[in-house]
Amino acid sequence: MSEHDKEAGTTGHQWDDDEGYPLKEYSNPLPRWWLYTFYATIVFSVGYWFLYPAWPLADGFTPGTLGWSQYRQLDEELAEAKAARKPFDDQLAQLSLDQIRQDPRLAAYAIAAGKAIFGDNCAPCHGSGGVGAKVGGFPALVDDDWLYGGTLETIHATVDNGRQGAMPAHLDSAGGALNDQQVRDLVEYVVAVSGRPAADQEAVARGKELFHGDAACNACHGDGGKGSLTGKVAGEAVDANIGAPNLTDAIWLFGGERDTLYATIAQGRTGHMPAWGAGFEGTGRKLDPLAIKQVTLYVHNLGGGQ
Ligand code: HEC
Ligand code: HEC
Repeated sequence: MSEHDKEAGTTGHQWDDDEGYPLKEYSNPLPRWWLYTFYATIVFSVGYWFLYPAWPLADGFTPGTLGWSQYRQLDEELAEAKAARKPFDDQLAQLSLDQIRQDPRLAAYAIAAGKAIFGDNCAPCHGSGGVGAKVGGFPALVDDDWLYGGTLETIHATVDNGRQGAMPAHLDSAGGALNDQQVRDLVEYVVAVSGRPAADQEAVARGKELFHGDAACNACHGDGGKGSLTGKVAGEAVDANIGAPNLTDAIWLFGGERDTLYATIAQGRTGHMPAWGAGFEGTGRKLDPLAIKQVTLYVHNLGGGQ
């Protein structure tokens, strides 16, 4: 080992190459800052092992003396978020739906909460954003065509208590009092009142007579098929809680094609909107009163609220 090598701090290992430039292994001390940082990380890691969950064990891990866990941290953060919401929630609980609607900040807060509730509970039937689904007869909630009504109060009552649509079966073989031809006549009449060209004007005339006569469809759908919400029978309002759809618009609960109309009139329909409120004190309730208010405001705000 040459003097020069000692100064430069080599280990003495050396590989000669043919050109006379040897490859030497150096052995310089590590820079101070690096070494101290390295020691510091060791000290830190020992401290960390004591304070935090660290070492895997057969049945879990060492918990650490601070008792920290991700779940605990999450619980704390959720509790903080809940505490931050509490003043809003308290106000929502106290104020009426109309009062909330008139306070833009509170309304926006309630609608945002209602949107999440809707996505979790209502969208499976009513579609995301409340667009509805004809298969199954799930009404769209985004339009201003209502079965039961689009005011805050009626929407609230619908969600709280649920609704049961009951369109009776009319074909004799399904327990009704009409034969196949009469059901076909009624189909033609419904096609005509919904503003489409009917194939057979005589069938329409016969259907019209049945509708307002023997079949008494107007008792629920109103004269001319305007629906139970706005319809009238001989000047008297129909009971709005029946939920019989307006047949004169182009909006269908189950569908307006002849086949679907025939199936509806022949076999009947029983659309069921579950109750979300009743029975909370017992077991069944899925939404508390605050959540029902929030989702009501959300639905009302979808576009068709009255
Ligand atoms: C299991 C399916 C289902 C779920 C879940 C459901 N609904 Fe309904 N909903 C229906 C059906 C079916 C009707 C129509 C009832 C009828 O045919 O008379 C309806 C009707 C309604 C109506 C009345 C619409 C009108 O035109 O008057 C509103 C409002 C409504 N639902 C809101 C909600 C909200 C809010 C939720 C969630 C909290 C919800 N629904 C959850 C099936 C459902
Ligand atoms: C006892 C009340 C009642 C009577 C009587 C009644 N309906 Fe209905 N009808 C309803 C209800 C309620 C619905 C909605 C059913 C549901 O929500 O599941 C309905 C739905 C319908 C629909 C489906 C509309 C759509 O948007 O898809 C048609 C069509 C219809 N009825 C025609 C008739 C005809 C024709 C008659 C007479 C033969 C008649 N209804 C008699 C209550 C009635």
